[in-house]
Amino acid sequence: MNKTSMILDVDTGVDDAFAVLFAARHPQINLLGITCVDGNTNVNQVVANTLKVLDAAGAGDIPVARGAVRPLLGKSEYAEYVHGADGMGDLGIAPSSRKTDPRSAIELLRDLVEGSKDPVTIVPMAPLTNIALFLRAFPETAKKVHRIVMMGGSASAGNATAAAEFNVWHDPEAAAIVFQSGVPITMYGLDVFMRPGATSEDAAQLLQSEDPAAQFAGTLIAAFIERLHVSPITLGDYGAVATAICPELFTTEIFDVVVDTSQGPARGQTICDRRAPFLKALEPNDLTDSASVRVVLDLDVPAVQTLWFKTIDNGWS
Ligand code: RIB
Ligand code: CA
Repeated sequence: MNKTSMILDVDTGVDDAFAVLFAARHPQINLLGITCVDGNTNVNQVVANTLKVLDAAGAGDIPVARGAVRPLLGKSEYAEYVHGADGMGDLGIAPSSRKTDPRSAIELLRDLVEGSKDPVTIVPMAPLTNIALFLRAFPETAKKVHRIVMMGGSASAGNATAAAEFNVWHDPEAAAIVFQSGVPITMYGLDVFMRPGATSEDAAQLLQSEDPAAQFAGTLIAAFIERLHVSPITLGDYGAVATAICPELFTTEIFDVVVDTSQGPARGQTICDRRAPFLKALEPNDLTDSASVRVVLDLDVPAVQTLWFKTIDNGWS
């Protein structure tokens, strides 16, 4: 089996936890490391949450590094209304005894990319502050990044605002730097983000499992449903990891994309030029500073859901 060498950039976050659990356990993924950034909650809490998730996954010694404490220009905007005050459902999960890597996030990104004999896929599922800083601090290493498969953006509506998705809205300047970097980008955004989900019944089945990772996931799902009063709840960020290793389950299209970094109502929007080619030819008002981005527009929801459940719970049926 061809393994994908992967680095996650997270703001753990309940749905980041779904992604970390999956990436730590799936046999097709060689999880090189995880970098943490200010986003859903503060970066110190993100680190603590991420270490707890690795414990639940029964993961080996995966390096986890602390990154940016706030966006490049703006202020932090936490999503405690979704993820709880501690960023992971306020479940009182015991602290991990794992140690944080002494390197900063951008140093860990540099060292993992430089040290990998295989192409490296970076999967950011948080504000892109760390990734922007890394690309700008180590341009020669940036050229060696195979691709970025990110959770973020939207070719349709927003969630943080009418126009913008939370990860891009939290740090639009960082997102613009990443989009314009020249690294190939696949954008798993709000067009599909909500579709792979888990129900209360799924949570109950996971809680019955002998597998600690399944029990942990079941607890998170039940708490997420309780907090948001909705079922199914989205598996969220996990979808970006699945896109990276099982592209056959996803439908994509390439668009020119630019990030709105203005201070207006569309700040943080990923403007995707979806005009028909004949129209673009007639009206060649191309987006300035745009990037050619592979945007996920559809997916095989049952297959993507089953992929997650079977990976999280060895006994899933
Ligand atoms: O807009 C969804 C994104 O914002 C997800 O990454 C979620 O974890 C939050 O960070
Ligand atoms: Ca996230």
